[in-house]
Amino acid sequence: MQFCVLITLLTCFAFSRGASVAQEGIEKQDERVRYDNYAVYKINYDNSIQRQLLLQLVKRHESFSLWHDSPTEIHLMVSPLALSEFERNLIRANATAEIFLANVQNLIDNETEANAKATSSFGWTRYHNLAEIEAWLDDILATYPDVTEGFVVGKSYEGRNIRGIKISYKADNPGVFIESNIHAREWITSATATWFINELLSSTDDLIRDLAENHDWYIVPVLNVDGFVYTHEKDRLWRKTRQPSSISSCVGVDPNRNYDVHWMENGGASDDPCALDYAGPHPFSEPEIKAMSEYLGSIKDKVNVFLAFHSYAQLLLSPYGHTAEKFPDNFDDMMKVAKAYADAVGAMPYGTIYNYSSAADILYPASGATNDWAYQEGIRISYTVEFRDRGRFAFVLPPAFIIPNAEEVLIGIIALIDECKKLGYLNLK
Ligand code: ARG
Ligand code: ZN
Repeated sequence: MQFCVLITLLTCFAFSRGASVAQEGIEKQDERVRYDNYAVYKINYDNSIQRQLLLQLVKRHESFSLWHDSPTEIHLMVSPLALSEFERNLIRANATAEIFLANVQNLIDNETEANAKATSSFGWTRYHNLAEIEAWLDDILATYPDVTEGFVVGKSYEGRNIRGIKISYKADNPGVFIESNIHAREWITSATATWFINELLSSTDDLIRDLAENHDWYIVPVLNVDGFVYTHEKDRLWRKTRQPSSISSCVGVDPNRNYDVHWMENGGASDDPCALDYAGPHPFSEPEIKAMSEYLGSIKDKVNVFLAFHSYAQLLLSPYGHTAEKFPDNFDDMMKVAKAYADAVGAMPYGTIYNYSSAADILYPASGATNDWAYQEGIRISYTVEFRDRGRFAFVLPPAFIIPNAEEVLIGIIALIDECKKLGYLNLK
């Protein structure tokens, strides 16, 4: 008995060191943040009091991290050190939990191993880092010079270029803008965006040719470049930007809370620099987001449809994010368009289910997101699309799912664009 206690304490000590190093961001060069025995739980609850009780835990950043939040369930990553505290709070909230992932580090290790084994060529059987994605983009631009054009949205805090590709086969096409990987850890988004670009340029399928040639595509595969590099080199689960705070030692801002659209309204973001949904000191405090607003703002008259790629939850989220009390005037149309996407995906052999509504209605208030800002700027069809899965692998979706997910997104977008056309949203502005 005593022996067991001792073992537990020793293990706890090792874990606690790992966790605090991770959180303070003072890890040594080459030392990656580890998530040994960090578990992810799905917690079901019936009412908002239970939810509030559980969310209070998240305020203790070192031990609990909120992975998903909806009106019926939350997903929480729990440090091994905080298990008993977690259990006490579950009992207090009278809620039940189911374990989704027993050891997050195992998943990360599998992914790292798959990436290391891979050949040097670009593809969709593993995840690529920013340098590989950019080299591939250069190849694509060189292979299809007549119909593609590279563009630079602007520079990140750490001075990287944020790059995009425009695909245009002819003049006077309606425009579709795709933003991807604004959240650093959502790797499936840039893997899907690059596959999608490749399909638009190389597929011989009639439906895809129609999609490619009769619309202008503006695609930014990795918007949060600094955060993305950080997920590859230091912390696989990093979400935010990498700009330090002047009032805290915590780094980074949630870029999807940083747009000047109902910024910080209704509890739709946090003013705590250590929180995952920190809105930043002021709207557009993040150079990446300021640059995006300027770039997208400069072409908004050519853009009919805006899509922001995220993971995970399998959802299409329309405006608004800051309130579920009020809906946009064309909300019914946006639901028809979302239904077209969800039905098309649902009819595929994978049987993947997507739900849809406004973000604040189906998820939680989240203010200052890109798709709300794009809508405010006059892009009438504007969604956040949350890809696979529903928490089984969450942010660390194994590479075997890249192509199935990307196929769904392609079929979904074909149906979505078709419905937009029927409803008159692709007319030139
Ligand atoms: N999961 C996304 C986030 O937390 C949801 C954003 C939804 N869109 C919105 N307009 N609030 O950033
Ligand atoms: Zn996201």
